[in-house]
Amino acid sequence: MSTIQLRTSIPGPRSQALMKRRDQAVVRAAFHATPIFVSKAEGAVIEDVDGNRAIDFAGGIGCLNVGHRAPAVVAAIRRQLDRFLHTSFNVLPYESYVALCEKLNSIVPGKGPKKTLLVNSGAEATENAVKIARAYTRRPAIIAFEDALHGRTYMAMAMTSKTHPYKAGFEPFPAEVYRIPYAYCYRCSYSLTYPSCEVFCAKHLEDAFKRVVAAETVAAVIVEPVLGEGGFVTPPPEFFPTLTDICRKHGILVIADEVQSGFARTGAMFACERLGLEPDLVTMAKSLSGGLPLAAVTGRADIMDVSASGQLGGTFGGNPAACEAALVVLETIEKENLCARANVLGERFRRRAAKWQAQWELVGEVRGLGAMQALELVRSRATRQPADEETKLVSQYCYEHGLVILTAGSYGNVIRLLMPLVVTDAQMDEAMDVLEAALASVAERRSVQTPQAVL
Ligand SMILES: Cc1ncc(COP(=O)(O)O)c(C=O)c1O
Repeated sequence: MSTIQLRTSIPGPRSQALMKRRDQAVVRAAFHATPIFVSKAEGAVIEDVDGNRAIDFAGGIGCLNVGHRAPAVVAAIRRQLDRFLHTSFNVLPYESYVALCEKLNSIVPGKGPKKTLLVNSGAEATENAVKIARAYTRRPAIIAFEDALHGRTYMAMAMTSKTHPYKAGFEPFPAEVYRIPYAYCYRCSYSLTYPSCEVFCAKHLEDAFKRVVAAETVAAVIVEPVLGEGGFVTPPPEFFPTLTDICRKHGILVIADEVQSGFARTGAMFACERLGLEPDLVTMAKSLSGGLPLAAVTGRADIMDVSASGQLGGTFGGNPAACEAALVVLETIEKENLCARANVLGERFRRRAAKWQAQWELVGEVRGLGAMQALELVRSRATRQPADEETKLVSQYCYEHGLVILTAGSYGNVIRLLMPLVVTDAQMDEAMDVLEAALASVAERRSVQTPQAVL
Protein backbone atom coordinates (compact mmCIF):
# COMPACT_ATOMS: atom_id res chain seq x y z
CA MET A 1 0.00 0.00 0.00
CA SER A 2 1.33 3.41 -0.86
CA THR A 3 2.36 5.78 1.92
CA ILE A 4 1.28 8.86 0.02
CA GLN A 5 -2.46 9.44 0.31
CA LEU A 6 -4.04 12.59 -1.03
CA ARG A 7 -7.64 13.37 -0.08
CA THR A 8 -7.71 16.92 -1.45
CA SER A 9 -5.77 18.90 -4.00
CA ILE A 10 -2.66 20.45 -2.41
CA PRO A 11 -2.86 22.78 -0.57
CA GLY A 12 -6.18 21.60 0.85
CA PRO A 13 -8.91 23.96 2.16
CA ARG A 14 -7.70 23.94 5.77
CA SER A 15 -4.13 24.71 4.72
CA GLN A 16 -5.43 27.50 2.50
CA ALA A 17 -7.46 29.00 5.34
CA LEU A 18 -4.46 28.86 7.68
CA MET A 19 -2.31 30.48 5.01
CA LYS A 20 -4.69 33.43 4.94
CA ARG A 21 -4.33 33.81 8.72
CA ARG A 22 -0.56 33.37 8.36
CA ASP A 23 -0.42 36.21 5.83
CA GLN A 24 -2.20 38.54 8.25
CA ALA A 25 -0.21 37.61 11.33
CA VAL A 26 3.26 36.42 10.37
CA VAL A 27 6.06 38.46 8.82
CA ARG A 28 6.36 38.15 5.07
CA ALA A 29 10.08 37.37 5.37
CA ALA A 30 9.46 34.08 7.19
CA PHE A 31 9.74 31.78 4.17
CA HIS A 32 8.20 28.34 3.76
CA ALA A 33 8.98 25.84 1.04
CA THR A 34 5.40 24.50 0.82
CA PRO A 35 1.92 25.95 1.49
CA ILE A 36 1.01 22.86 3.55
CA PHE A 37 0.18 23.10 7.25
CA VAL A 38 1.20 20.01 9.16
CA SER A 39 -0.94 18.20 11.67
CA LYS A 40 1.25 15.28 12.72
CA ALA A 41 4.38 13.37 11.73
CA GLU A 42 6.02 10.00 12.29
CA GLY A 43 9.24 8.57 10.87
CA ALA A 44 9.51 9.93 7.33
CA VAL A 45 5.80 10.68 6.92
CA ILE A 46 3.77 13.81 7.61
CA GLU A 47 0.02 14.30 7.67
CA ASP A 48 -1.41 17.72 6.90
CA VAL A 49 -4.41 19.48 8.40
CA ASP A 50 -6.61 18.25 5.51
CA GLY A 51 -5.75 14.60 6.17
CA ASN A 52 -3.29 14.25 3.26
CA ARG A 53 -0.27 12.02 3.85
CA ALA A 54 3.10 12.87 2.31
CA ILE A 55 6.67 11.60 2.45
CA ASP A 56 9.04 14.09 4.01
CA PHE A 57 12.35 14.55 2.20
CA ALA A 58 13.07 17.85 3.97
CA GLY A 59 13.17 16.66 7.57
CA GLY A 60 12.61 20.17 8.92
CA ILE A 61 15.72 21.24 6.92
CA GLY A 62 17.88 18.29 7.85
CA CYS A 63 16.97 18.13 11.55
CA LEU A 64 15.36 14.70 11.60
CA ASN A 65 18.00 12.15 10.64
CA VAL A 66 16.50 9.81 13.28
CA GLY A 67 13.00 10.55 12.00
CA HIS A 68 9.96 12.45 13.22
CA ARG A 69 9.09 11.54 16.80
CA ALA A 70 11.66 8.76 17.09
CA PRO A 71 10.09 6.71 19.93
CA ALA A 72 13.19 6.68 22.17
CA VAL A 73 13.64 10.43 21.70
CA VAL A 74 10.00 11.15 22.56
CA ALA A 75 10.29 8.94 25.66
CA ALA A 76 13.43 10.80 26.82
CA ILE A 77 11.70 14.16 26.37
CA ARG A 78 8.62 12.88 28.27
CA ARG A 79 10.80 11.77 31.20
CA GLN A 80 12.38 15.21 31.32
CA LEU A 81 8.98 16.95 31.18
CA ASP A 82 8.13 15.26 34.47
CA ARG A 83 11.32 16.48 36.15
CA PHE A 84 12.05 20.12 35.19
CA LEU A 85 11.97 22.17 31.97
CA HIS A 86 14.38 24.99 32.56
CA THR A 87 16.71 26.25 35.23
CA SER A 88 19.39 27.71 32.92
CA PHE A 89 22.71 25.91 33.02
CA ASN A 90 24.10 29.30 34.12
CA VAL A 91 22.11 29.13 37.35
CA LEU A 92 21.41 25.52 38.34
CA PRO A 93 23.42 23.07 36.23
CA TYR A 94 22.13 19.57 35.41
CA GLU A 95 23.72 16.26 34.46
CA SER A 96 22.37 15.89 30.90
CA TYR A 97 24.28 19.02 29.75
CA VAL A 98 27.52 17.55 31.08
CA ALA A 99 26.79 14.08 29.70
CA LEU A 100 26.08 15.46 26.23
CA CYS A 101 29.32 17.48 26.26
CA GLU A 102 31.21 14.33 27.33
CA LYS A 103 29.63 12.39 24.48
CA LEU A 104 30.33 15.05 21.87
CA ASN A 105 33.93 15.37 23.11
CA SER A 106 34.37 11.66 22.49
CA ILE A 107 32.88 11.52 18.97
CA VAL A 108 33.67 14.86 17.31
CA PRO A 109 36.63 14.68 14.89
CA GLY A 110 39.90 16.39 15.72
CA LYS A 111 42.95 15.51 17.80
CA GLY A 112 43.46 15.66 21.58
CA PRO A 113 41.19 16.40 24.54
CA LYS A 114 38.08 18.41 23.74
CA LYS A 115 35.46 20.61 25.40
CA THR A 116 31.98 21.66 24.35
CA LEU A 117 29.63 24.65 24.60
CA LEU A 118 25.88 24.18 24.04
CA VAL A 119 23.73 26.88 22.44
CA ASN A 120 20.36 27.06 20.65
CA SER A 121 20.84 27.34 16.89
CA GLY A 122 23.31 26.80 14.09
CA ALA A 123 23.86 30.54 13.75
CA GLU A 124 24.62 30.83 17.46
CA ALA A 125 27.11 27.98 17.14
CA THR A 126 29.00 29.62 14.26
CA GLU A 127 28.95 33.00 16.07
CA ASN A 128 30.45 31.37 19.16
CA ALA A 129 33.06 29.49 17.15
CA VAL A 130 34.24 32.86 15.82
CA LYS A 131 34.33 34.37 19.33
CA ILE A 132 36.38 31.43 20.56
CA ALA A 133 38.77 31.47 17.58
CA ARG A 134 39.37 35.22 17.94
CA ALA A 135 39.87 34.98 21.71
CA TYR A 136 42.38 32.13 21.30
CA THR A 137 44.40 33.50 18.40
CA ARG A 138 43.97 37.19 19.29
CA ARG A 139 43.55 37.77 15.57
CA PRO A 140 40.53 39.46 13.94
CA ALA A 141 40.01 38.02 10.45
CA ILE A 142 37.81 35.12 9.36
CA ILE A 143 37.97 33.48 5.97
CA ALA A 144 34.73 31.99 4.65
CA PHE A 145 33.81 30.47 1.30
CA GLU A 146 31.71 31.35 -1.68
CA ASP A 147 28.40 29.45 -1.59
CA ALA A 148 28.63 29.07 2.19
CA LEU A 149 25.74 29.46 4.62
CA HIS A 150 26.48 29.85 8.31
CA GLY A 151 23.24 31.41 9.62
CA ARG A 152 21.22 34.60 9.75
CA THR A 153 22.56 36.53 12.76
CA TYR A 154 24.95 39.34 11.87
CA MET A 155 28.32 37.60 12.03
CA ALA A 156 26.86 34.39 10.61
CA MET A 157 25.25 36.41 7.82
CA ALA A 158 28.54 38.15 7.09
CA MET A 159 30.15 34.72 6.67
CA THR A 160 27.25 33.55 4.48
CA SER A 161 27.71 33.95 0.75
CA LYS A 162 24.31 33.96 -0.96
CA THR A 163 23.06 37.51 -1.30
CA HIS A 164 19.33 36.93 -1.92
CA PRO A 165 17.44 36.33 0.28
CA TYR A 166 19.98 36.11 3.10
CA LYS A 167 21.96 39.36 2.98
CA ALA A 168 20.50 41.95 0.62
CA GLY A 169 19.10 44.94 2.49
CA PHE A 170 20.71 44.05 5.82
CA GLU A 171 24.05 45.79 5.19
CA PRO A 172 26.46 46.78 6.69
CA PHE A 173 27.95 43.53 7.93
CA PRO A 174 30.61 43.02 10.58
CA ALA A 175 34.13 43.65 9.28
CA GLU A 176 37.06 41.27 8.86
CA VAL A 177 35.27 38.54 6.91
CA TYR A 178 37.04 37.55 3.69
CA ARG A 179 35.81 35.14 1.06
CA ILE A 180 37.50 32.65 -1.25
CA PRO A 181 36.05 30.15 -3.76
CA TYR A 182 34.97 26.69 -2.61
CA ALA A 183 35.89 23.50 -4.45
CA TYR A 184 32.71 23.63 -6.52
CA CYS A 185 34.08 21.63 -9.43
CA TYR A 186 30.92 21.79 -11.55
CA ARG A 187 31.23 25.59 -11.54
CA CYS A 188 34.93 26.09 -10.86
CA SER A 189 35.64 29.76 -10.12
CA TYR A 190 38.98 29.39 -11.92
CA SER A 191 37.52 27.51 -14.92
CA LEU A 192 39.83 24.59 -14.17
CA THR A 193 39.05 20.87 -14.24
CA TYR A 194 39.69 18.31 -11.53
CA PRO A 195 42.09 16.47 -11.21
CA SER A 196 44.40 18.38 -13.54
CA CYS A 197 43.72 21.53 -11.43
CA GLU A 198 45.60 19.88 -8.51
CA VAL A 199 43.09 21.59 -6.18
CA PHE A 200 44.27 25.03 -7.17
CA CYS A 201 41.36 26.47 -5.14
CA ALA A 202 42.86 25.15 -1.87
CA LYS A 203 46.40 26.19 -2.78
CA HIS A 204 45.11 29.62 -3.73
CA LEU A 205 44.67 30.39 -0.02
CA GLU A 206 48.39 31.28 0.01
CA ASP A 207 47.72 33.81 -2.73
CA ALA A 208 44.83 35.29 -0.72
CA PHE A 209 47.31 35.92 2.10
CA LYS A 210 49.31 38.13 -0.27
CA ARG A 211 46.47 39.88 -2.09
CA VAL A 212 43.46 39.87 0.24
CA VAL A 213 44.29 39.52 3.94
CA ALA A 214 47.58 38.96 5.82
CA ALA A 215 47.87 35.42 7.20
CA GLU A 216 49.04 36.65 10.60
CA THR A 217 45.74 38.52 11.06
CA VAL A 218 43.54 35.50 10.29
CA ALA A 219 41.98 33.72 13.28
CA ALA A 220 40.14 30.97 11.42
CA VAL A 221 38.89 29.52 8.18
CA ILE A 222 35.26 28.41 8.53
CA VAL A 223 34.14 25.77 6.08
CA GLU A 224 31.24 23.39 5.50
CA PRO A 225 32.74 19.93 4.78
CA VAL A 226 29.91 19.50 2.28
CA LEU A 227 28.09 22.67 1.20
CA GLY A 228 24.53 22.62 2.54
CA GLU A 229 22.46 25.53 1.30
CA GLY A 230 25.15 26.07 -1.34
CA GLY A 231 23.99 22.92 -3.14
CA PHE A 232 25.46 19.78 -1.56
CA VAL A 233 28.90 20.17 -3.10
CA THR A 234 31.57 17.72 -1.90
CA PRO A 235 35.18 18.80 -2.47
CA PRO A 236 37.70 16.36 -3.98
CA PRO A 237 39.77 14.30 -1.52
CA GLU A 238 42.89 16.51 -1.70
CA PHE A 239 41.02 19.72 -0.87
CA PHE A 240 40.81 19.59 2.92
CA PRO A 241 44.28 18.12 3.62
CA THR A 242 45.78 20.86 1.41
CA LEU A 243 43.69 23.60 3.01
CA THR A 244 44.40 22.49 6.59
CA ASP A 245 48.16 22.16 5.93
CA ILE A 246 48.23 25.80 4.82
CA CYS A 247 46.17 26.89 7.84
CA ARG A 248 48.42 25.02 10.29
CA LYS A 249 51.53 26.57 8.73
CA HIS A 250 50.14 30.03 9.49
CA GLY A 251 48.64 29.30 12.93
CA ILE A 252 45.09 29.63 11.59
CA LEU A 253 42.29 27.56 13.14
CA VAL A 254 39.95 25.44 11.04
CA ILE A 255 36.26 25.54 11.96
CA ALA A 256 34.20 22.76 10.36
CA ASP A 257 30.55 23.77 10.15
CA GLU A 258 28.76 20.41 10.40
CA VAL A 259 25.37 21.95 11.14
CA GLN A 260 23.79 20.39 8.04
CA SER A 261 26.26 17.59 7.21
CA GLY A 262 26.52 16.10 10.71
CA PHE A 263 24.95 13.15 12.50
CA ALA A 264 25.10 10.37 9.90
CA ARG A 265 23.80 12.36 6.94
CA THR A 266 26.92 11.72 4.85
CA GLY A 267 27.36 8.07 5.84
CA ALA A 268 29.63 8.86 8.81
CA MET A 269 28.74 10.57 12.08
CA PHE A 270 30.50 13.68 10.70
CA ALA A 271 31.36 14.55 7.10
CA CYS A 272 34.89 15.51 8.26
CA GLU A 273 35.58 11.80 8.81
CA ARG A 274 34.82 11.03 5.18
CA LEU A 275 36.87 13.88 3.80
CA GLY A 276 40.12 13.80 5.77
CA LEU A 277 39.28 17.10 7.48
CA GLU A 278 40.84 17.52 10.92
CA PRO A 279 39.21 20.59 12.40
CA ASP A 280 40.13 22.55 15.53
CA LEU A 281 36.49 23.47 16.20
CA VAL A 282 33.25 21.89 14.98
CA THR A 283 29.82 23.55 14.93
CA MET A 284 26.71 21.36 15.09
CA ALA A 285 22.93 21.80 15.32
CA LYS A 286 19.92 20.52 13.30
CA SER A 287 19.84 16.69 13.63
CA LEU A 288 21.65 16.76 16.99
CA SER A 289 18.46 16.71 19.01
CA GLY A 290 15.74 15.01 16.97
CA GLY A 291 13.66 18.13 16.42
CA LEU A 292 14.28 20.28 19.50
CA PRO A 293 16.42 23.41 19.21
CA LEU A 294 19.97 22.67 20.29
CA ALA A 295 23.42 23.44 18.90
CA ALA A 296 27.01 22.91 19.97
CA VAL A 297 30.59 23.98 19.46
CA THR A 298 33.14 21.27 20.25
CA GLY A 299 36.86 21.75 19.90
CA ARG A 300 40.36 21.41 21.25
CA ALA A 301 40.17 21.94 25.01
CA ASP A 302 43.00 24.50 25.06
CA ILE A 303 41.17 26.61 22.48
CA MET A 304 37.69 26.19 23.96
CA ASP A 305 38.90 27.10 27.47
CA VAL A 306 40.63 30.35 26.61
CA SER A 307 37.63 32.52 27.54
CA ALA A 308 36.84 33.24 31.18
CA SER A 309 33.72 32.22 33.12
CA GLY A 310 30.60 34.03 31.86
CA GLN A 311 32.05 34.97 28.47
CA LEU A 312 30.16 32.30 26.54
CA GLY A 313 26.60 30.98 26.84
CA GLY A 314 23.06 32.28 27.15
CA THR A 315 19.82 31.80 29.06
CA PHE A 316 18.45 28.81 27.16
CA GLY A 317 21.63 27.19 25.76
CA GLY A 318 21.55 23.42 26.39
CA ASN A 319 17.88 23.13 27.35
CA PRO A 320 17.46 19.99 29.50
CA ALA A 321 14.79 18.33 27.31
CA ALA A 322 16.94 19.00 24.22
CA CYS A 323 20.03 17.54 25.95
CA GLU A 324 18.13 14.37 26.93
CA ALA A 325 16.84 14.10 23.36
CA ALA A 326 20.33 14.56 21.92
CA LEU A 327 21.83 11.83 24.09
CA VAL A 328 19.20 9.42 22.76
CA VAL A 329 19.65 10.66 19.17
CA LEU A 330 23.37 9.84 19.31
CA GLU A 331 22.63 6.43 20.81
CA THR A 332 19.98 5.76 18.15
CA ILE A 333 22.35 6.67 15.29
CA GLU A 334 24.85 4.14 16.64
CA LYS A 335 22.36 1.40 17.59
CA GLU A 336 20.39 1.58 14.35
CA ASN A 337 23.54 1.97 12.30
CA LEU A 338 22.16 5.02 10.52
CA CYS A 339 25.54 5.83 8.96
CA ALA A 340 25.40 2.59 6.98
CA ARG A 341 21.75 3.24 6.19
CA ALA A 342 22.65 6.69 4.82
CA ASN A 343 25.07 5.07 2.38
CA VAL A 344 22.46 2.52 1.27
CA LEU A 345 19.87 5.27 0.70
CA GLY A 346 22.42 7.37 -1.16
CA GLU A 347 23.24 4.45 -3.47
CA ARG A 348 19.56 3.74 -4.08
CA PHE A 349 19.08 7.34 -5.12
CA ARG A 350 22.23 7.41 -7.30
CA ARG A 351 21.07 4.40 -9.31
CA ARG A 352 17.78 6.08 -10.17
CA ALA A 353 19.36 9.50 -10.67
CA ALA A 354 21.92 8.14 -13.14
CA LYS A 355 19.01 7.12 -15.37
CA TRP A 356 17.42 10.57 -15.06
CA GLN A 357 20.71 12.18 -16.01
CA ALA A 358 20.96 9.95 -19.08
CA GLN A 359 17.37 10.71 -20.04
CA TRP A 360 17.03 14.47 -19.50
CA GLU A 361 19.44 17.26 -20.28
CA LEU A 362 17.80 19.10 -17.37
CA VAL A 363 19.75 16.94 -14.89
CA GLY A 364 23.19 18.52 -15.15
CA GLU A 365 24.92 16.84 -12.22
CA VAL A 366 24.10 14.15 -9.68
CA ARG A 367 26.32 14.46 -6.63
CA GLY A 368 26.62 13.86 -2.92
CA LEU A 369 28.03 11.89 -0.08
CA GLY A 370 26.01 9.21 1.75
CA ALA A 371 22.41 10.36 1.94
CA MET A 372 23.41 14.02 1.35
CA GLN A 373 22.53 13.75 -2.34
CA ALA A 374 21.46 16.36 -4.86
CA LEU A 375 20.58 17.06 -8.48
CA GLU A 376 21.82 20.26 -10.11
CA LEU A 377 19.37 21.29 -12.82
CA VAL A 378 20.53 23.17 -15.93
CA ARG A 379 18.89 24.47 -19.11
CA SER A 380 21.75 23.13 -21.21
CA ARG A 381 24.59 20.77 -20.45
CA ALA A 382 26.89 22.85 -22.66
CA THR A 383 26.28 26.23 -20.98
CA ARG A 384 25.29 24.88 -17.55
CA GLN A 385 22.80 27.73 -17.32
CA PRO A 386 21.05 27.25 -13.98
CA ALA A 387 17.46 26.01 -14.35
CA ASP A 388 16.12 27.92 -11.36
CA GLU A 389 12.50 28.27 -12.52
CA GLU A 390 12.41 24.60 -13.49
CA THR A 391 13.75 23.68 -10.05
CA LYS A 392 10.86 25.55 -8.42
CA LEU A 393 8.43 23.69 -10.69
CA VAL A 394 9.95 20.32 -9.74
CA SER A 395 9.59 21.16 -6.05
CA GLN A 396 6.00 22.33 -6.56
CA TYR A 397 5.08 19.21 -8.54
CA CYS A 398 6.55 17.11 -5.72
CA TYR A 399 4.57 18.66 -2.88
CA GLU A 400 1.39 18.66 -4.96
CA HIS A 401 1.90 14.89 -5.38
CA GLY A 402 2.84 13.98 -1.82
CA LEU A 403 6.59 14.55 -1.56
CA VAL A 404 8.04 17.40 0.47
CA ILE A 405 11.45 18.31 -0.94
CA LEU A 406 13.84 21.26 -0.68
CA THR A 407 15.81 23.24 -3.23
CA ALA A 408 19.28 24.71 -2.65
CA GLY A 409 22.23 26.30 -4.45
CA SER A 410 23.44 29.85 -4.96
CA TYR A 411 21.48 29.83 -8.22
CA GLY A 412 18.42 28.09 -6.71
CA ASN A 413 18.80 25.21 -9.16
CA VAL A 414 19.57 22.26 -6.90
CA ILE A 415 17.16 19.65 -5.55
CA ARG A 416 18.53 18.26 -2.27
CA LEU A 417 17.60 15.21 -0.22
CA LEU A 418 17.30 15.56 3.55
CA MET A 419 14.95 12.68 4.28
CA PRO A 420 14.91 11.04 7.69
CA LEU A 421 17.37 8.14 7.53
CA VAL A 422 14.67 5.86 8.93
CA VAL A 423 12.71 6.12 5.67
CA THR A 424 11.83 2.60 4.49
CA ASP A 425 12.94 1.21 1.12
CA ALA A 426 9.33 1.27 -0.06
CA GLN A 427 8.87 4.91 0.97
CA MET A 428 12.20 5.82 -0.63
CA ASP A 429 11.13 4.23 -3.92
CA GLU A 430 7.71 5.86 -3.78
CA ALA A 431 9.32 9.26 -3.16
CA MET A 432 11.70 8.75 -6.07
CA ASP A 433 8.75 7.83 -8.31
CA VAL A 434 7.24 11.24 -7.51
CA LEU A 435 10.55 13.01 -8.10
CA GLU A 436 10.95 11.17 -11.41
CA ALA A 437 7.46 12.19 -12.50
CA ALA A 438 8.24 15.79 -11.49
CA LEU A 439 11.44 15.83 -13.55
CA ALA A 440 9.64 14.23 -16.49
CA SER A 441 6.85 16.78 -16.37
CA VAL A 442 9.27 19.73 -16.24
CA ALA A 443 11.83 18.33 -18.69
CA GLU A 444 9.15 17.45 -21.23
CA ARG A 445 7.35 20.76 -20.80
CA ARG A 446 10.61 22.52 -21.65
CA SER A 447 11.41 20.03 -24.44
CA VAL A 448 14.92 19.57 -23.17
CA GLN A 449 15.34 15.90 -24.04
CA THR A 450 19.00 15.00 -24.28
CA PRO A 451 20.13 14.48 -27.86
CA GLN A 452 21.61 10.99 -28.32
CA ALA A 453 25.01 12.50 -29.10
CA VAL A 454 25.28 13.95 -25.61
CA LEU A 455 24.48 10.74 -23.77
C1 LIG B 1 25.95 24.73 7.42
C2 LIG B 1 24.99 25.58 8.21
N1 LIG B 1 25.45 26.38 9.19
C3 LIG B 1 24.63 27.12 9.93
C4 LIG B 1 23.27 27.14 9.70
C5 LIG B 1 22.36 27.99 10.53
O1 LIG B 1 21.61 27.19 11.38
P1 LIG B 1 20.30 27.76 12.09
O2 LIG B 1 19.29 27.95 11.03
O3 LIG B 1 19.95 26.71 13.10
O4 LIG B 1 20.70 29.05 12.73
C6 LIG B 1 22.73 26.33 8.70
C7 LIG B 1 21.29 26.32 8.42
O5 LIG B 1 20.80 25.84 7.43
C8 LIG B 1 23.62 25.52 7.93
O6 LIG B 1 23.17 24.72 6.96
